[in-house]
Amino acid sequence: MAKVLVLYYSCTGNTRQMAEAVAEGAKQAGAEVAVCDVESCALEQLLEYDAIIAGSPTYYGIVAGALKEFFDRSVKYHTKLEGKVGGAFSSGGGMGGGSETTVLSILQMMLVHGMIVQGKSKGNHYGAVSVKAPDENVIQECRQLGERVAKLAAKLFG
Ligand SMILES: Cc1cc2nc3c(=O)[nH]c(=O)nc-3n(C[C@H](O)[C@H](O)[C@H](O)COP(=O)(O)O)c2cc1C
Repeated sequence: MAKVLVLYYSCTGNTRQMAEAVAEGAKQAGAEVAVCDVESCALEQLLEYDAIIAGSPTYYGIVAGALKEFFDRSVKYHTKLEGKVGGAFSSGGGMGGGSETTVLSILQMMLVHGMIVQGKSKGNHYGAVSVKAPDENVIQECRQLGERVAKLAAKLFG
């Protein structure tokens, strides 16, 4: 059974709602899942999971400082996350407000760790994005993100 960590920062709750839907999807795919608010998540958790799906509000078109700071501290485990599966999601304030670039900024950090990222040919290509609180379509995208990451991790790690 693959182990999936859903890591998020959320100030007003929108990204947290997305994190819960991502976790649901991963659980439905048979993974063991933990959901962790970055402000109370121990850095060592990164080592314990086959896959890490990280979410942030869109702040100035990139990842919020709290999640960036967590990733900065993850340099302690540089090379140790190599080959794990990654995924990302973001809530922004408006259409075209930079949620996709925020997702890409999270994926960039994961790629520097040597993690594996799968794109998506239909729907949200880079990761799940929302305008403010997730509506039902976004919830579906989040569930699919969790499911796809969990399935890939199960293929790689059984
Ligand atoms: C400091 C700050 C910067 C923000 N920058 C952007 C931005 O560049 N683009 C955007 O669409 N929304 C921006 N927003 C709005 C948030 O991304 C949006 O309200 C989001 O849904 C908040 O997610 P949360 O409820 O998980 O905290 C910003 C909000 C704050 C507080």
